[in-house]
Order: sequence, then structure tokens, then C-alpha cells
Amino acid sequence: MCGIVGYIGPDQAYDFLIKGLQRLEYRGYDSAGVALLDGGLKVYKTKGKVSDLVSLTEGKDTTGSIGMGHTRWATHGEPNDINAHPHLSQSGDLCIIHNGIIENYASLKEVLLERGHEFVSDTDTEVLAHLIEDIRENEEVDVFEAVRLALNEVVGAYAIVIISKNDPDLLIGARKGSPMVIGHGKHEGEYYIASDATPIVEYTREVTYMEEGEIAMVKDGQLTIKTIQNIEKTPYIHKLEMTLDAIEKGGYDHFMLKEIYEQPKSIYDSMRGRFSQEDLTFAMQSLREYETKIRNLKRIIIVGCGTSWHAGLVGEYLIEEFARLPVEVEYASEFRYRNPIINSDDLVIAISQSGETADTLAALELAKENGATLYGVCNVVGSSIPRITHAGAHTHAGPEIGVASTKAFTAQVTVLTLLALGIAEIRGQITKARLREMFTELEQIPGKVQKVLDSCADKVLEISEKYMNVQNFLYLGRGYNFPVALEGALKLKEISYIHAEGYPAAEMKHGPIALIDENMPVVVIAPKRGYYEKVFSNIQEIKARKGQVIAVITEGDEKIKSIADHTIEIPDTEDALVPLLATIPLQLLSYHIAVMRNCNVDQPRNLAKSVTVE
Ligand code: G6P
Repeated sequence: MCGIVGYIGPDQAYDFLIKGLQRLEYRGYDSAGVALLDGGLKVYKTKGKVSDLVSLTEGKDTTGSIGMGHTRWATHGEPNDINAHPHLSQSGDLCIIHNGIIENYASLKEVLLERGHEFVSDTDTEVLAHLIEDIRENEEVDVFEAVRLALNEVVGAYAIVIISKNDPDLLIGARKGSPMVIGHGKHEGEYYIASDATPIVEYTREVTYMEEGEIAMVKDGQLTIKTIQNIEKTPYIHKLEMTLDAIEKGGYDHFMLKEIYEQPKSIYDSMRGRFSQEDLTFAMQSLREYETKIRNLKRIIIVGCGTSWHAGLVGEYLIEEFARLPVEVEYASEFRYRNPIINSDDLVIAISQSGETADTLAALELAKENGATLYGVCNVVGSSIPRITHAGAHTHAGPEIGVASTKAFTAQVTVLTLLALGIAEIRGQITKARLREMFTELEQIPGKVQKVLDSCADKVLEISEKYMNVQNFLYLGRGYNFPVALEGALKLKEISYIHAEGYPAAEMKHGPIALIDENMPVVVIAPKRGYYEKVFSNIQEIKARKGQVIAVITEGDEKIKSIADHTIEIPDTEDALVPLLATIPLQLLSYHIAVMRNCNVDQPRNLAKSVTVE
């Protein structure tokens, strides 16, 4: 939700700001803007994408070695030029960009209006700019202190960057609830600020992840970090491991396609070194450290949103099957507000690609207050969730830029598989022989995913062409493949704007069957594992009502081939591992349909990748 960048140093800021905003555009693309300080303050902003901002600034003065940029996902105020960031204070001296929501902005605005402030936008951010200036003038303090005092009055979430027309050597950043990374540049006094490390990695590998409630100030070339309570902190410098090609398209038309094709590697990376086939052991530190806790667990609660919630559902099936431990999977947004029962012998697993989703973070905080042990399964290293959880295992999917999640999902399922097996092993619920079988099959998965990618492309294109103009799609699956059906449907609606629903196959008869006619494509995940015969009957029921069946089947399954309209074959594997294979053609199907419908695949309308607002 909104991407922010900032620069101070000897170079010109503009190129970094624009490139950085392009890298962060996955966080929102309702409007874009930059501010540059070079004697005077120049602000350029526009509704639309970073490319529109680039057109706007063409031929204009973009000099300045201090600057900030913003790409917006609108919360307060419609996406238009005026509501685009940066925003100015009353005098125009202070300039601010913001990611997050100031929840008490209305009451702050009321007070400021009474004090004679005039506002030009509908945003909560402008209120903050005015508040800081009001404090600076009335308390007669410097900008840093004014920011600090203002943030003490603010309720809500923010990552902000501030520059001041009258302080030509000053850049301030602060965060609470929204992410912020500071890059230590190669030149003296050179610093970068961004919502995540992707804009920074091209320039430096040394970064400091800002902690909750911290304010950073670069002044006279020196970086100082303090808490909003005014306690000085020593910046901890991390070395970035991310590579530049990981965040570029590398010859693919879209990030989403690149990320789909990266899955053999991302799945492999997410399991690599985490178990030993030879001595049947796990090398996951979190499992070792929490062995006693895991042995005494009564229940696991999994929280997440969107695709991560779907991975959580697969996790539920996995953990209950292998570890025989009750699991509840909750939408983080519901969990946090419904006064759930949480016990100190619960393990709460948060699943999140970004590690920043506001609802998931809040659910974890609630669980922490109630004494549960928190475990994170996140993709972005240095993000908030891994930092507030007691333990965790990263998914090593690498940066995921396409807004619709693909490789992060399969990486999450991979890690959850290992977790389920690890917990099963600690609790004595799995035999050595079964563990060996699972490890052997897991090792085959990257190769099998590659096989699916190599073999299904033409088929998926043909199906996409035939159904690209339909209004509705139904996805059905059973057992492990019910979440796959949900995920397939979500992917299609997210990027092609076709209405799609995922259902447990057996539930079809309780409602969705009424929708089936000759125009209704039904994607059925029907591998020769699990509940094959039952799902086969569902396919017959669809055909009896003239529905169009697109079946994902185990290779060589002639029985379904003989009645389905289209089949996509995947290699045979363990029932529990089918989601890792069956998901792939569904991702490709939504991708190709969206491309054929001329949709913006990587940046679907109204969505954002990192949802740092509730
Ligand atoms: C947004 C994204 C989804 C993602 C969800 C949860 O809605 O568009 O792709 O699944 O947030 O995000 P997280 O980063 O917590 O996995």
C-alpha cells in the first residue's frame, strides 16, 4: 500500500526516485509524485502511474540532490492529482510523503482548521504535514523535534519521509506499522530510503531496517536514529543478499510469467538444506529450538490473507494428516476482531509473502498478548512479521513483484509441508519409512514442476483462447485440492476480472450446480489420488448439465480424458504434494486469459501487493 523513496547525497536524486518508484509500483499505482530540493522545492505529481509522472516531468527542472517519491494506493481521498503525494504544510516549507493511515486525522484536522490552517486535499497525510509545521512554529523547535512530537499525537500507521525547504541538508524518515529501509550509500553522507530494499540494491547492499516507532534523520551528512520517545538508537547494518536480476523481468513479458516459471527454483530453494534424506533429520533451527514447545502443543492456529490464507488451508490439511494436531485457519482480519480463544500452548503461524500485511500483523500482536508462541512463514527478509515472531522459516522464493502471488504460494506450501513433517516427527506421529517416502517425493517436486511448465503451455493457451470472453468460471477441488481451487479462482478474478469461484467439489450440489449450463467452464482438479472416484462423479454431474469441464489430471488418466472437454496433465505425486503441481497450470490459465483480455497482469486494478492498511 503505497511505495515511498527518498534520497540525500552528492548525486542527483531524480533517477533513483523514478527507478525506485517503478520497483515499488506493485504497492499501489493510483498516483505518483516526486519532490526535489535544490535551493527551491519542486513538486511534481499526477494521477496514474509512474510512467505518467515521467511524462509530466519531461522537459521540466528535475535537479536536486535531496528528494522523495511516492506511488499511491488510495485510502483517504479519490485518486486524483490533488490527493497525490507529496503534500505540503501550510507555508509550503515542509513536504511529506506517507504510506499508511492516520486514524485520528479528522480530529487533528478539526483543531488545525480552528487554528487557521487551510487544506487543499482530502488526505490524512496533508493533515500530518500541517500538524508538524504547527508544532514547529508554536513550540519553536527544529523539524526533527516537531516530527517527533507530532508522531506522539498520531494514532495509526505510517512510513513518512519529510524534507524542508529551509533545511537544504536534511532528510527525515519515520515508521510505525508500515515498512521502511535505509540504504547506506557508497559516498559519505549518501542515504537512500525506501519501503523495501528493491530500489536500493542497485546502489548499495548495506541497509538498516527501521524498527517500529523510530525516526531517522540525515543532517550534515550524519545519520541519527531515535525513537519517538527520544531514545537514541545505533543503526544495525544488514548486508542485502538480493540480486539485481531477481527484481528485473529478465526477458519475460511480465513479472508474473517470470515468477511462474521460476517455481522449480523457488520451491527447491525453499526446501534446500532443510532436511536430510540420508539420516532422516530436519535442519530447521526453529524446529530444534521449539522442540519441547511443539511436543506439548494443543493446537495450531494459522492466520493469513489472500493467497497466503489459501496456503494456510493446505497447511491445515498437511499438519492434521501428518502431525495429527488440530489446526484452525483464520482470515487474519476476522481473527483479530472476533475475540478469539487463544491459549499459551497454542502455536500461531502467520503466513505472509510481504511480512507486512496489517491484518496479519495485528492478529499476531493479539496472539502475543495472549501468550501464544508466534511462528512466521514470510518471504521478505527483514520485514515486520519475522521480526515480531518468536520463530519462523523464510520462504526462499526471492522477490515477488507481480501483484498476483504465484511463486510465493508454492514456496509457502513447500515450507508448510516441511513444517508438518517436522512437527509430526517431533511428536512421534510419522514412521521413518513414511518420512523417507515423503522426502524422496519432495526432492522430485522441482523437476515435476518443470515438467508441468514444459508440457502444459500449448494446452493452456488453447483453453485460454476458447474461454477468454466468458463471464464466470467455477473451480472445484477436494481435500488438498480444495485450497488449490480457491487459489485458481482468486488468480483468475484478480488479474482478468472474470468472476470466478472456488468450491469444494462435493459442495457443488449445494448451490453452484444451479449455475452450470453449456456456457459455464468448470475447472476440476482431479488427480488420481485422494478422492478420485468422487471427483470423477462430480465431473459426470457437470457434463450431465452440459458444463464445460477443464480437468487437471494425473498423466495418462484416460478415464477423465474420455469425458472432459479439456485436460491438462500433471505428473503423479503424493496426495499431499499435488497442490504444488496442480497450481501451476491454473496460474498460467489466468495469466494467458488476462493477457488476451489486455489486462495489466502485473498491476491489476485496485489491488496492491503489500497491504499495510486494514
Ligand atoms: C494482497 C495481495 C495478495 C496477497 C495478500 C496477502 O491482497 O494482492 O496477493 O496474497 O495481500 O499478502 P501477504 O504479503 O501477507 O502474503
